[in-house]
Amino acid sequence: MRNKLIVGNWKMYGTVKETRKLIFQLAVQWGKRCDGVEVGVCPPFTSLFVARDELKESHLRLGAQNCHHEPKGAFTGEISPEMLSELGCYYVILGHSERRTLFGESDEVVSQKVRAALDWKIEPIVCVGETAAQRESDETEAVLARQLEASLASTMPEDAPHINIAYEPVWAIGTGKTATPLMAQSAHSFIRGQLRKKFGNLADGMTIQYGGSVKPQNAFELFSQPDIDGGLIGGASLDAEAFIDIIEAASSASQR
Ligand code: 13P
Repeated sequence: MRNKLIVGNWKMYGTVKETRKLIFQLAVQWGKRCDGVEVGVCPPFTSLFVARDELKESHLRLGAQNCHHEPKGAFTGEISPEMLSELGCYYVILGHSERRTLFGESDEVVSQKVRAALDWKIEPIVCVGETAAQRESDETEAVLARQLEASLASTMPEDAPHINIAYEPVWAIGTGKTATPLMAQSAHSFIRGQLRKKFGNLADGMTIQYGGSVKPQNAFELFSQPDIDGGLIGGASLDAEAFIDIIEAASSASQR
């Protein structure tokens, strides 16, 4: 049985003050361990240090939203996996569609970052997903296959237990339009099939999260699908109450 994984992607939200408050609400005021669910939060780089301290006594894990693939060098404005590892980051989100479209990240770059993260023992959460136009022209599976193959080109079967995939249809991100549970399940099952081609039976143990307008109202039904192993949560992860409801929905779904 796979555990569910719920990770908050805070994006460019969360000053140090806001981070302290949100993590206090999650880790201290609530702080419950929910059966069958692992939880992570990915604040902006500038809040990682304070988040690490606030999370110290809790079971919530820390993650980052991006990293460079080189260990160090003249790369103005970039952050290396070693720096993230030093701050106790357990996860790093890589290849998010916002990075792909707004910052020109290619699958090849994502693949280099995935390798670097794994080498530093940080679990990548590798994002893939089609645009609305690609879905309308029936290219969803071709896009997913291409993104997975190229973004994971640097990995080997022994990496499989440390890699998480997030299926995030671009048209569902921040739009309030969620994929229906069946639509998402079909994409997740296709993704698992692709992972099986690459990693064999290890694919059955890999976590595939869904991301795109997950809210307390739709979380349980999404997470009850057989190949949906939790969520990568944007907007709703900035509200402690909503994020906790989503974690609890994942726990209930894991016990079905
Ligand atoms: P929303 O939950 O705000 O749609 O964002 C999803 C996302 O991009 C998570 O990485």
